[in-house]
Amino acid sequence: VIQTDDHVLFVKGKADRLPFADDTFALSCFSPPYLGQRLYLEDGVDLGVTLDCDEWVSWMMRVIREAVRVTRGLVVCVCAGPTEERNYQPGPEGLIWEWHRSGGLQECPVYWKRNGIPGSGGDQWLRKDVEYCIAFKKTPKLPFSDNTACGEPPKFAPGGKMSNRMINGERVNVKAASRRNRKGVRCKETYVPPKLANPGTLLDTGATGGGLLGWDGAHENEAPYPEEVPEFFIKSFTRPGDLVLDCFSGSGTTASVANRLGRRGIGVDLRQSQCRLGRRRIENPHSYLPKGGGVDKPLPLFDRSEAS
Ligand SMILES: C[S@@+](CC[C@H](N)C(=O)[O-])C[C@H]1O[C@@H](n2cnc3c(N)ncnc32)[C@H](O)[C@@H]1O
Repeated sequence: VIQTDDHVLFVKGKADRLPFADDTFALSCFSPPYLGQRLYLEDGVDLGVTLDCDEWVSWMMRVIREAVRVTRGLVVCVCAGPTEERNYQPGPEGLIWEWHRSGGLQECPVYWKRNGIPGSGGDQWLRKDVEYCIAFKKTPKLPFSDNTACGEPPKFAPGGKMSNRMINGERVNVKAASRRNRKGVRCKETYVPPKLANPGTLLDTGATGGGLLGWDGAHENEAPYPEEVPEFFIKSFTRPGDLVLDCFSGSGTTASVANRLGRRGIGVDLRQSQCRLGRRRIENPHSYLPKGGGVDKPLPLFDRSEAS
């Protein structure tokens, strides 16, 4: 456990055995090692976390069960299936299906459109441009969501082009649209345009190569995601002060973004090196190497009495 003063921040541990009580977190957002993808080393030693498709799905079922146990709201798992020897490995789809078959609940997955490097797929024409953000949950209605926090202003102003289709098929401007109330009486609808529209399920973070992930040191992890990914979910599914978990913390992206947004981020990682890396990020969120030797004082983040 890496602590700041008497507050816990990063915990060395396993994602399928989390040291937290039920419903501790408002949101979990993480990216596990993908199936068959790469070696994860600690002090030059392979941790043996590289799994084939079937093994990965079984393991991830345990991880998701554990994440859902400790989380009241959404559990977001960022992952993609690799193509091995020209054969696509449907790990994420297998996980979606197995979770469904086990009676588990899900939101519609979000597709993260990450800009790959053109031509990086070699002679493979169907290069991957999206990854899944699979969204699991415990209850049908989420305890909290703000469906416009990450949206953009609506395209058309009221009185503009937006229109409704009436029962007789006629298209009318929204302002003039009417519908029947519960007693069957036709009543005028007033349309109050939202300042921001629902963002939908495509998350486009633009170019995400070296230097564009939000923190220079992120590449001390093998596969970091850009800050925009957890930011989308933290803004949409948590309130200020809420606890946010990343049980595959790596360079601490989720915890760092959570803190920047006034939430409290907690990271769990199998490797002590990554827990230390996350701590360095929290202390120096704007630069990899502290300029002038100055170290920002971390905020109090997690009261130990909140952990089981
Ligand atoms: C894809 S990386 C996460 C990167 C992170 N999202 C970031 O932005 O830096 C996966 C991390 O999971 C850790 N890991 C692997 N197996 C684990 C396990 N069973 N429990 C917890 N962490 C594990 C690895 O050490 C690695 O740092």
